[in-house]
Amino acid sequence: MCGIVGVLGNHEVAPILVEALKRLEYRGYDSAGIATVNDGTLDRRRAVGKLVNLSDLLVHDPLPGKSGIGHTRWATHGAPTEANAHPHRAGRVAVVHNGIIENFRELRAELAAAGVTFATQTDTELVALLTERHMAEGLAPAEAVFKTLDRLTGAFALALLFQGEEDLIIAARKGSPLAIGHGEGEMYVGSDAIALAPLTDRITYLEEGDRAIVTRAGVEIRDVEGRLVNRPVKQIQLDAARIDKSGHKHFMAKEIAEQPQVIAEALNAYLPAGGDRVVLPEGSPDFSKIDRLVMVACGTAFYACLTAKYWFEQIARLPVEVDIASEFRYREPPVAPRTLALFVSQSGETADTLAALRYCTDKADSLLSVVNVPESSIARESGMALPIHAGVEVGVASTKAFTCQLTVLFMLALKAAADRGALSPEQVADHVAALRGLPSALNAALDEGPAIRKAAQSLSEARDVLFLGRGLMYPLALEGALKLKEISYIHAEAYASGELKHGPIALIDKHMPVVVMAPRDALFDKSVSNMQEVLARKGKVVLISDEAGIAEAGDGIWAAIRMPHVQPALTPILYAVPAQLLAYHTAVAKGTDVDQPRNLAKSVTVE
Ligand code: AGP
Repeated sequence: MCGIVGVLGNHEVAPILVEALKRLEYRGYDSAGIATVNDGTLDRRRAVGKLVNLSDLLVHDPLPGKSGIGHTRWATHGAPTEANAHPHRAGRVAVVHNGIIENFRELRAELAAAGVTFATQTDTELVALLTERHMAEGLAPAEAVFKTLDRLTGAFALALLFQGEEDLIIAARKGSPLAIGHGEGEMYVGSDAIALAPLTDRITYLEEGDRAIVTRAGVEIRDVEGRLVNRPVKQIQLDAARIDKSGHKHFMAKEIAEQPQVIAEALNAYLPAGGDRVVLPEGSPDFSKIDRLVMVACGTAFYACLTAKYWFEQIARLPVEVDIASEFRYREPPVAPRTLALFVSQSGETADTLAALRYCTDKADSLLSVVNVPESSIARESGMALPIHAGVEVGVASTKAFTCQLTVLFMLALKAAADRGALSPEQVADHVAALRGLPSALNAALDEGPAIRKAAQSLSEARDVLFLGRGLMYPLALEGALKLKEISYIHAEAYASGELKHGPIALIDKHMPVVVMAPRDALFDKSVSNMQEVLARKGKVVLISDEAGIAEAGDGIWAAIRMPHVQPALTPILYAVPAQLLAYHTAVAKGTDVDQPRNLAKSVTVE
């Protein structure tokens, strides 16, 4: 939910810290700040709002120093004010934090009883106060930090800087990711490799509970027991060039446009060239030994799982349960024998999904994750991760990651069908052939941009929007509603079309646009009836369908968005594009912040 960075450099670090924070701003953007040590003096600059406000401040009030830490915030404890902006400081200690300290009240009460006064409403300030108090008792910085860490419960990634210490950053991770970057005579700390990409591609990922003593000479890592541990230095293949907009107005537009290319990469990863079956990495589950699949995720990833449920059940004849992670983890459901637990997460760091995975670790026969960050916590703790190859996704609203998740999940369903004998090799080959046509179908869908932009102009004037879908289009309707509400702030909700008569039809009037997602498939006639029910009440229907569907839908449609025809099973992947573009153009028409919508963050690493 926040981004943190630290640099022990050989040059002025303020601009380097700000550049790294730009790459982390997708994690939160309520406020930003940096702290440096210069000739032994610890100082900081902080600003409310977007990172650009901090950059402006630094122009007028520069902060010298070659050692520093930085932070971009998504507010948890304490309003987004300058006083609550990180880095927080107490005496000789400055700290930046991603996560939530859950025993915050107990610690605050203890310090208050000891006469300590507080400058902020934040939990993070306690880390600086406790560490300063331990240093005042005579402990060295590292020992003081370790003693503080032993008092904390909750989730945190921390980096601390000290007055008088030009060559020292102490870092720690518990529940929130943290990476150490290895430079030439320089060292770095960052929430992820993206932040450090311009500085280094040599990355060490801290494990759960690790504490790191970082100097320009290198890093000493200790586990939660204080034992020295050795964590590998990995060469990260991070195409730094993908962290720009490539001429698009927004990252979201770029990432929508990238879908044909990244889906082709996802297909190539699991469909051998010229082959007609799905090949998964060594150690992937054998579905002939699986009786039940449980899928757990959040947000858009959850809708990908809901879509995949139809595929696993219809194509592989495998019973599937799908759960929202935040519900699953606290309901603590029984897990039957021969169950595969599957976790889908773009970031691989979503706290609720990670907690659900940990719940299943000793209960499910096998675990599997489908992620966009192979080094992430969910990927590592699942033991077996299938990368989706979407490339870095910066826009907070998930687009290419969603369609890549769907593509990988569909291939997984084909593998399950083959393992269980539910499909013959010839039938699998037919599906594989259809998959190979996806990139060009997606290009055709992208070409509908102008028609979608026109519909979006009208949609942008609505107060409420209803999305309807049947079968495979029902989860897509849910995703379309989420896309629209999270970037345009228009209230949108989705229903299975068959539910319209059971209540939602009361909402329909001439002010209510209804987006119907309905390819000309076996359920289309039912969807036409639903559209007629809406039109009879002067509702405004936006129909997303193919040529045949639009022709059959008849008159009175407010707007029609034409999709190319694809194999019915693949329509969710294709119809995601108009749903994304409808939301995007509506948000642009409304002038909202498309890439960094209010109140949101890209990776929800707190509950
Ligand atoms: C979707 O547009 C949102 N950004 C959000 O719902 C997201 O899908 C959800 O937070 C899950 O994130 P994850 O895939 O990284 O776990």
